[in-house]
Amino acid sequence: MCGIIGIAGRADITAPLMEGLARLEYRGYDSAGLAVVGSEDAEPKRRRCVGQVKALAQNLRTQGLSGEVGIAHTRWATHGTPSEENAHPLVSGTIALVHNGIIENFRPLRSELEAAGYRFESNTDSEVIVHLIHHQLVATEDLAEAVRAVVKRLQGQFALAVISSSDPDCIVAVRSGSPLVLGCGDGQNSVASDASALAGLARQAVFLEEGDLATIAADRIAIEDRNAAPVTRSPVPLKSGQEVRLGQYEYHLQREIFAHPDSIRAVLADRLQGDRVSAFDDFAGLLDRVEGISIAACGSSYLAAEVARHWFEELAGLPCQAEIASEYRYRAQVIQPNTLFLTLSQSGETADTLAAFKKAQGQGYLTTLSMCNAPLSSLPRLSDIEFMLNAGPEISVASTKVVSASLVALLLLAMTLARRNGLTSSREAELVGALRALPEQVQQVLQRDADFEQQAVAIASQNHALFIGRRAFYPIALEGALKLKELSYIHAEGHAAGELKHGPLALVDENMPVIALAPADDLISKLESNLQEIKARGGRLYVITDQSLASRLQAELECAVIPLPDTHAVTAPILYLVSVQLLACHVGLHRNTNLDQPRNLAKSVTVE
Ligand code: M6R
Repeated sequence: MCGIIGIAGRADITAPLMEGLARLEYRGYDSAGLAVVGSEDAEPKRRRCVGQVKALAQNLRTQGLSGEVGIAHTRWATHGTPSEENAHPLVSGTIALVHNGIIENFRPLRSELEAAGYRFESNTDSEVIVHLIHHQLVATEDLAEAVRAVVKRLQGQFALAVISSSDPDCIVAVRSGSPLVLGCGDGQNSVASDASALAGLARQAVFLEEGDLATIAADRIAIEDRNAAPVTRSPVPLKSGQEVRLGQYEYHLQREIFAHPDSIRAVLADRLQGDRVSAFDDFAGLLDRVEGISIAACGSSYLAAEVARHWFEELAGLPCQAEIASEYRYRAQVIQPNTLFLTLSQSGETADTLAAFKKAQGQGYLTTLSMCNAPLSSLPRLSDIEFMLNAGPEISVASTKVVSASLVALLLLAMTLARRNGLTSSREAELVGALRALPEQVQQVLQRDADFEQQAVAIASQNHALFIGRRAFYPIALEGALKLKELSYIHAEGHAAGELKHGPLALVDENMPVIALAPADDLISKLESNLQEIKARGGRLYVITDQSLASRLQAELECAVIPLPDTHAVTAPILYLVSVQLLACHVGLHRNTNLDQPRNLAKSVTVE
């Protein structure tokens, strides 16, 4: 998604701006640009290009650019194709602007501006803002005042950073629905759409609140709240970013899949004490009152929540509703007393999850808890209880190691809540033992890499695939289908195995790979019947199963079988999660897709 970085300094800031842009690349984008002003400039100087930040860097090397104050942007197209005209910064006379978010009322504003004589060079919703600011500066000479007046006319969500060659010492930035964070440095201050872009630029970060407007100069930062009253926002220390190296891997996705064991170890570290879960001890009194759980999340985080629903219900005996955040935010909820509202998000910035959270606030939930992997991101800062997943940076757009960390975190919570409903210490010790064994078992799954690669070859030649599973393995089947879509562009669907005969079975023929998740549990004979139905219709079966069942299933179904290590029934979905991700990764490799940046997608989905 779009990323913003802006720096106000005393010397040329082009190089640090480009470094900031490079740190925003992980969000996914299709074009990039920057604009700078210096004290001698009549207008902002700008460079933009379609494609990668390195193309912009090459442009700067050949054509040069310098200035003491500047803004830069990575754009993920919403309104208007990826093109140089649509790339930010957008300029109107002396003003340059970068924008994250969406302006919903841009059409009437555009008509009004065109009638006033403004000529539009882009198809973006954003361009109205820069012309409105330019127009407003006829009424006032103060840039911050003009931006404040224009913001009042905008509908939608946005984060803006604006510079002007008439006021070349500062950047004016506004947060309204899209996050912005300020960086305080020595002799230079900065602004960015997320704290990771500020690494190396600042020692402290100041998170803007909704409606805040900041004026950022090299030696001072002034913040006004939504009522234009001066405010102070507390700074927090910025840790230096962890450098991520590809090492032996071609893609971050592969590195991240092979980091599953480490991410599980990291989320467990300091959260177990002997045979018991200690992760939530600080909130024991509050959590003792929980009578139900409502989870809002998107994509793979939502699917992890769907797996956890089974744990909350089966282990803790508590009703649990997992919901896609973009649906939650527009639906009427019936909230039972003492319900815990939980958000789950790798980035902590997903717009729909944030909106669901904001809707939930003040609705009578017992408390809010967020599980998140990005330190200093919005969701944990806003929630009553934050639980960091500690899985380390995840660069690939497709989420992998953070999903296993999320599942472990959710299981820790389910075990904590289960105590009140009769989880004995011996059963807790058994589950803690299963959790401690997980990293090694996941490692064994990863050691079967060659088996996954072998099966991926045949799947890669097809255009469709089905994943099936039952109970907690049904959301894992959905995750398999999601990952296959993202990584290979094969059309894939996930189904509850028992639902096949109610419709999807019509799709099955000799060209339809069906990947079945077949753990050795009490439903295996039911699942085997489903597999026989597929076999009878010529479907190509790929069965992922526990070691103990592998040879029998292979003999009976005469199909490809990938065995996984036998594990505890409660933690088994985590092993199957890793297996479907590894399979999808190999299919993508065979189809030669960009595994780290699937087309049309972005890492941090900060627009609705
Ligand atoms: O950062 P979040 O966990 O909130 O992101 C949610 C989804 O956007 C994310 O899981 C997405 O579905 C991934 N591309 C899945 O691989």
